[in-house]
Amino acid sequence: MNNRDLQAGARQLEATLLGELPALSALRAALHHRLFDRLPAPGPHPEEAWAVQILSERGALLAGDDGWCASAAMTELLRAQDDLAALVEFTALAACDILRHGPALSSGVRAFQSRAETFGFFRYDRARGTGAAQIEDTAPWVAYVTALSRREAPVLAPLIPLDGCARLLEIGGNTGVMAEALLARHRALSATVLDLPAVCHLGRARMKHRPEPRLSFLPGDARETAWPAADAVLFKSVLHDWAPDDARALLRQAAAHLPPGGRVIVCERGALADEPVPGGLSAAANLVFGPFYRAPAVYRDWMVAAGLRPLPPVDAQLDMTFHVIAAEKSA
Ligand SMILES: C[S@@+](CC[C@H](N)C(=O)[O-])C[C@H]1O[C@@H](n2cnc3c(N)ncnc32)[C@H](O)[C@@H]1O
Repeated sequence: MNNRDLQAGARQLEATLLGELPALSALRAALHHRLFDRLPAPGPHPEEAWAVQILSERGALLAGDDGWCASAAMTELLRAQDDLAALVEFTALAACDILRHGPALSSGVRAFQSRAETFGFFRYDRARGTGAAQIEDTAPWVAYVTALSRREAPVLAPLIPLDGCARLLEIGGNTGVMAEALLARHRALSATVLDLPAVCHLGRARMKHRPEPRLSFLPGDARETAWPAADAVLFKSVLHDWAPDDARALLRQAAAHLPPGGRVIVCERGALADEPVPGGLSAAANLVFGPFYRAPAVYRDWMVAAGLRPLPPVDAQLDMTFHVIAAEKSA
């Protein structure tokens, strides 16, 4: 099997395992009890038989001459076991929230937010410093965001209009996965990721063994820290976190910051109301944020109001539709 087919098989298996309750439960148990590290094995512990049965029926485990072993697609997924574990844990958390507190979602977003554990997971407040406890509280959600970015960046990076740009500022760029993908495509580009201090610390740690002199991290709060010179400002899956007034203010700040010809680029999932709601258990990971996603026209109108000229919109299908909404500052 060539590498491309192997990758496709691994993604397909991942979707299957995250997409339904028995498979997600079995995978979560297997990761928790380090089942894969004990393979090949002649037989599962009796208590693990249920998980082994489900995982083998889904194509994650195979019965071989030496007993149970991971399939080729599962072996590929396990090459980034921490990413897989982060996706599994967040999907389980979000699914629990949607199942337990779904009725509150219909009573208004605040009622849901106050009950759902999902929102307590993203401890942005703890990411404002780099003490050991702050890093520890930040690492789990950053691991999840990083795992997601690794899946999104190969599809989205080609859609980000950076031709002719020399200096990218990525606001809320997390551990730099997207920035790295963009630098690989644009050899004359350099990039700065401005994110909260603990996040930048984790981003630098991720890059420690893969030096990229064109990528730098600027720890701070995007509303207070002085922005470095840039001819493109990217907000990827960031603005839905912000209330309309704050998001508009960030777009105005970006527009004012750019030189003539500079670009503001927003990349976001679309509003749930505008597209078929994705199915399966893994949809919970986006349903919890459903009330915060906006139609691309909202961002385009805010950019126009900030004095920018819209560029042609593009989109891509991942777990939902991602929209790239870009606009240019007039010369
Ligand atoms: C939903 S995550 C998106 C991360 C990344 N862009 C991606 O798509 O994977 C939002 C990011 O915004 C960052 N963030 C939140 N508040 C911030 C602030 N005040 N200043 C800078 N970054 C902030 C978070 O730390 C996080 O990395």
